[in-house]
Amino acid sequence: MIRASEVTFAYPGGPSVLGPVSFEIAPGSLCGLVGANGSGKSTLLALLAGLFVPSTGTLTVNGRPSPGDVQGVRAAVALVLQDPDQQIVGATVGEDLLLGLTPRDPAQAERALALAARFGLGDPTAPVQTLSLGGRRKLCIATALRDAPEVLVLDEPFAGLDYPAGREMRALLASNRAAGRTQVIASHDVEPFADLADAWLVLEAGRVVLRGATDAVFRELRAHGVRPPTAWRPGEPVPAWE
Ligand SMILES: Nc1ncnc2c1ncn2[C@@H]1O[C@H](COP(=O)(O)OP(=O)(O)OP(=O)(O)O)[C@@H](O)[C@H]1O
Ligand SMILES: [Mg+2]
Repeated sequence: MIRASEVTFAYPGGPSVLGPVSFEIAPGSLCGLVGANGSGKSTLLALLAGLFVPSTGTLTVNGRPSPGDVQGVRAAVALVLQDPDQQIVGATVGEDLLLGLTPRDPAQAERALALAARFGLGDPTAPVQTLSLGGRRKLCIATALRDAPEVLVLDEPFAGLDYPAGREMRALLASNRAAGRTQVIASHDVEPFADLADAWLVLEAGRVVLRGATDAVFRELRAHGVRPPTAWRPGEPVPAWE
């Protein structure tokens, strides 16, 4: 369970940009964190991942509080940034997958191969700059999942992806969901994953203005700067994005 209790956050020397916010995210659920540009999504993701700590209030991830046990939060949560080039460190696919692991260990090389294959990343000896944007983002997710985090948080995972890469991203999120991993997806656009989410948190100017299940939230979305999916009709399930 992720629980935020009266959390606020201000960047050093600046005004408060978030909160107070209070919410819960159920274990194993896929939560859409949506809002217009500048509403505080990325800031909240960084707090969830333990990169920032609340200025006031408490954020608890599966029993680990921030502030208090930020290292515990960091161990439990993996963050995938919008821009994979800020996150990829290895020169090749395999090197990036193995960073921080024991080098030159044949067992690790096997593991890298298996991960690369599972994510359709192709040849693990390929230089990272030869991957497409979708491929580089998948590499970041594979690296994030390598150590089996309890929670995966993704910042704008669909931004800039073409149709095939968007479909692959959806399949990845769906398989994580089926495996019971908690996921939080920040996006200004609900369209590509509206049918996959279990619950929503809608931010506006740093506050949670809507939360809960899809139908009730989507009825009010436009007023908060986010467009509901084109194919959605009130009272009906969201059609699958295909
Ligand atoms: N490093 C920073 N220093 C100071 N203020 C910041 C910093 N990063 C973000 N902000 C401010 O915090 C607020 C929330 O920004 P944030 O990036 O979290 O929003 P967002 O919802 O992720 O926006 P976007 O949709 O553009 O990604 C904005 O007012 C932004 O200007
Ligand atoms: Mg952002």
